[in-house]
Amino acid sequence: LGTLMLSGIRETLIVVAPDQIDGFKRLLGDGSQWGLNIEYATQDQPRGLPDAYVLGAEFVRGEPSALILGDNLFYGAGVGESLSHARSGFDGAKIFCQPVKDPERFGVVVLDESGNPLSIVEKPVRPASDLAITGFYFFDGEASRYARDLKPSSRNELEIVDLLKRYLDQGQLQVQQLERGTVWLDTGTFESLAGASEFVRVVQQNQNFRI
Ligand code: G1P
Repeated sequence: LGTLMLSGIRETLIVVAPDQIDGFKRLLGDGSQWGLNIEYATQDQPRGLPDAYVLGAEFVRGEPSALILGDNLFYGAGVGESLSHARSGFDGAKIFCQPVKDPERFGVVVLDESGNPLSIVEKPVRPASDLAITGFYFFDGEASRYARDLKPSSRNELEIVDLLKRYLDQGQLQVQQLERGTVWLDTGTFESLAGASEFVRVVQQNQNFRI
């Protein structure tokens, strides 16, 4: 939520599993305490990330939007500025990537010499680059329509990389590398969640404002 706020977004739809919605509502409410408007939708089966655009079609109303994954943490000077800047300057879809040590855990993008995307693969066994796709995406107003056209993958989910490939095939996918000083942590494993908690604890212990 903080990352969305830094990028200038105030209207948010939180998509959660049915058994978690009450906890989220208790914690965040309608967002008015932070000047936000938070709405909720439940996803009864894990049908993949693009399903958020199927469930949220009425919420986004065919307008440009951002998608952020709840287990991704972004932190660093300039994150807000670069995201809010990026928000207006793209045609189609925009993604953010960062070189990582373990690209096989992520969606991976290969760029040409000018920084244009050539290919995208989800969790490749042998990654062709070390550039991981982070869980923050900007989409134009077509995202819900394209998401409805997607077919489930072999693991029976709609894949975010398939949505991104549609934009890539149309020459409408822009890729921005996060700056070197930007911290991006995916907390999707026990180890990475523990690491992110420790990171937040250390930063907040030393500075007098909260991440
Ligand atoms: C998801 C996406 C992947 C992306 C990652 C970022 O994977 O499918 O492309 O790189 O988020 O955190 P997950 O972590 O849900 O397995």
